[in-house]
Amino acid sequence: MRVSATAVIGLQWGDEAKGKFVDLLTEQHDVVIRYLGGNNAGHTVVFGGETYKLSLLPAGILHPDVVSVIATGVVVDPKALLDELDAIVERTGPVEPERLLISDRAHVIFPYHLLEEAVYETGSNGDAIGTTMRGIGPCYQDKAGRRFAIRLGDLCRPDVFRRRFHDVAAKKNEMLLALSPNAETVDIDAVFAEYSAYAERLAPYVCDTTTFLHRSLKNGRKLLFEGAQGSLLDVDHGTFPYVTSSNSSGCGIHNGSGVPERVISRMIGIVKAYTTRVGGGPFPTELTGEIGEKIRERGREYGTVTGRARRCGWFDAVAAAYAARISGVDCLAIALLDVLDEMDEIKVCEAYEIDGERTTDFPSQIEDLNKARPLYRTLPGWKTDLTGARKLADLPAATRRYVETLTELVEVPAAFLSIGPDREQTIFCD
Ligand code: IMP
Repeated sequence: MRVSATAVIGLQWGDEAKGKFVDLLTEQHDVVIRYLGGNNAGHTVVFGGETYKLSLLPAGILHPDVVSVIATGVVVDPKALLDELDAIVERTGPVEPERLLISDRAHVIFPYHLLEEAVYETGSNGDAIGTTMRGIGPCYQDKAGRRFAIRLGDLCRPDVFRRRFHDVAAKKNEMLLALSPNAETVDIDAVFAEYSAYAERLAPYVCDTTTFLHRSLKNGRKLLFEGAQGSLLDVDHGTFPYVTSSNSSGCGIHNGSGVPERVISRMIGIVKAYTTRVGGGPFPTELTGEIGEKIRERGREYGTVTGRARRCGWFDAVAAAYAARISGVDCLAIALLDVLDEMDEIKVCEAYEIDGERTTDFPSQIEDLNKARPLYRTLPGWKTDLTGARKLADLPAATRRYVETLTELVEVPAAFLSIGPDREQTIFCD
């Protein structure tokens, strides 16, 4: 099999600036693929001097010669997708079905998924995960449970959808009331009519994307897999239960797209030069005081999707090295280095101390991670504006030392450094 694909994977808890790198790499590829998550993800891409906020649509959508694929592993909220598509069409012109392919195997998010999530997340028993409230978890739950799942292929066949939806929605309403007697339920006929209209608009784009991707490989087209969220939010390998409900590490590429990972010749792991996290869950290097606030303001660390303030902290090399191992990355892209420009000194967590023991293993149980005390290596800040740097030699010695420390601790070489949102504000290390 030809080796002709690249993947871009976040190695932290999401929001690593994957959008910028995907956009940069898009012009070297023919097909860009989203393969997991849904409109919980948010990418900011600066293209042609304009800023675009993408959620479900792959970054390839901004490039007329590139095909964008929303593959099997994605969960699709049709309204969110169509709203996003309409906004793009308004700014960049029509998107023909040859340019956007959506998997008929992808599962559909319905209003009852959002209502179900609201019951879980706003309940009074204090076990909220801090989700994006987009119905992502309940939709994946139905996918795994199978009984109540509806896929895009079903939605786009009116007779199948009619047969299936009424039974499923009636059962879902019963379940909502069983979960909470005051729960809101859905108006079954109204949702059926609304979703039937979405189906009509989406149908031209819906197809078997797995077959398309294999045919593309056979024809020598280059694929770019666009990760969403980050490896530490992976449902199997992340900080469970404070994770998303799909495989957001490199492990998700195969099952989310139907394309085996061995076709990928470059697995790029993206990290921020510090760490952020949105929602609940352990975060050993979190900075709750002035320095954290400074990082948040300089890095504009507010969620693209929910607007929530992100929690900020020092770079956690224990967590990033673990993520790099499970995702199998072979090079790093280090983003947002310029956010640290004004720091007098910068810390990097090189190990944890748990119950008096030093370890560089990332704990599998959150009780242990909650106890982890970060052991820091302290480096001098560079106190220089990096945003004008264009090559390695333009960087101060302290910045180069910082980058070398991250790559040494994560045990992966750096291929790209980012020192601002624009494409030109990127340094190619090799
Ligand atoms: P869910 O994906 O909405 O179920 O949320 C589960 C967890 O993943 C929460 O902590 C969210 O804040 C987090 N999360 C989901 N998507 C993203 C993302 O794109 N960036 C960062 N965090 C995310």
